Amino acid sequence: MVSDSCKKRFGKIMMEDMELIAQEEIAPRIFSMVLKGEMVEQMLAGQFLHIRVPDDSKLLRRPISISEIDPDSHTCRLIYRVEGGGTAIFSQLPIGSFLSVMGPQGNGFDLKELGQGARALIIGGGIGVPPLVQVAKQLHEQGVEVHSVLGFANKEAVILEEELKQYGQVTITTDDGTYGTKGYVSTIVDQIDKEFDAIYSCGAPGMLKYVNSKFYDHPRAYISMESRMACGMGACYACVVHLENASQAANKRVCEDGPVFETGTIVM
Ligand SMILES: Cc1cc2nc3c(=O)[nH]c(=O)nc-3n(C[C@H](O)[C@H](O)[C@H](O)COP(=O)(O)OP(=O)(O)OC[C@H]3O[C@@H](n4cnc5c(N)ncnc54)[C@H](O)[C@@H]3O)c2cc1C
Ligand code: FES
Repeated sequence: MVSDSCKKRFGKIMMEDMELIAQEEIAPRIFSMVLKGEMVEQMLAGQFLHIRVPDDSKLLRRPISISEIDPDSHTCRLIYRVEGGGTAIFSQLPIGSFLSVMGPQGNGFDLKELGQGARALIIGGGIGVPPLVQVAKQLHEQGVEVHSVLGFANKEAVILEEELKQYGQVTITTDDGTYGTKGYVSTIVDQIDKEFDAIYSCGAPGMLKYVNSKFYDHPRAYISMESRMACGMGACYACVVHLENASQAANKRVCEDGPVFETGTIVM
């Protein structure tokens, strides 16, 4: 039986067959795809799409973040890494294919109330960088000074540097020092002596843990979480994270309450 709240959610969630209009490999195993459809009008920075793999043996949809939104052309860009069978199939799809998309899903980044003269710090790692491009783009349009610090495993894995440079200063780190500064994003962030009005972050769990503790009490610091998902719309509780400082065990669902959370609010 479907509960009332579930029905409401079904009412809100959009399903659409979106057309794949461009796809290219931008780094080893990392693909950029452009999808076209009406759903683009509803998209917000930090939300994700829950995409059906066009293969009947793969029942679960795959969550992929929205990297850039262009409402004028009804297109959005997604950047994904080929991890397993589902993303491998996405990467082989011919232009003109249609993908069954559920979304736009989740709560994105809060970009409101930041305007001319404000300063934002973006901290991204690896395949967590894509959703931050739309964040930088919108903040830049709002007159915010944006500084992005991005970390990658090595030179080959560096993505979206040029895109982010359009919207502000970019500093890159690589774990092995083959590009930019050798080390982790924390190496750079710990050295910056400016104050930031807001911090936006997405990346590997270790990096988010660092951002969460460094900006634990900051009033406008946000981290975007990942977790294994099934329904992707708040019904199955496959994706829970636990609330910090709750008197008893309390959960939030990454797909519905997140993926973006304020720092200091969830157990990392
Ligand atoms: C909110 C959110 C946003 C994401 N955004 C991006 C993105 O922009 N780019 C990108 O490359 N990846 C992103 N991911 C991770 C991406 O969903 C997985 O890499 C992808 O589902 C793997 O599918 P697969 O069939 O290739 O791998 P398989 O390993 O064959 O997948 C098996 C199952 O595990 C699930 N799964 C595997 N890895 C993950 C993971 N890391 N997170 C969640 N579910 C997983 C799959 O959805 C599938 O149900 C995101 C994940 C979440 C939760
Ligand atoms: S994946 Fe089902 S509740 Fe989040």
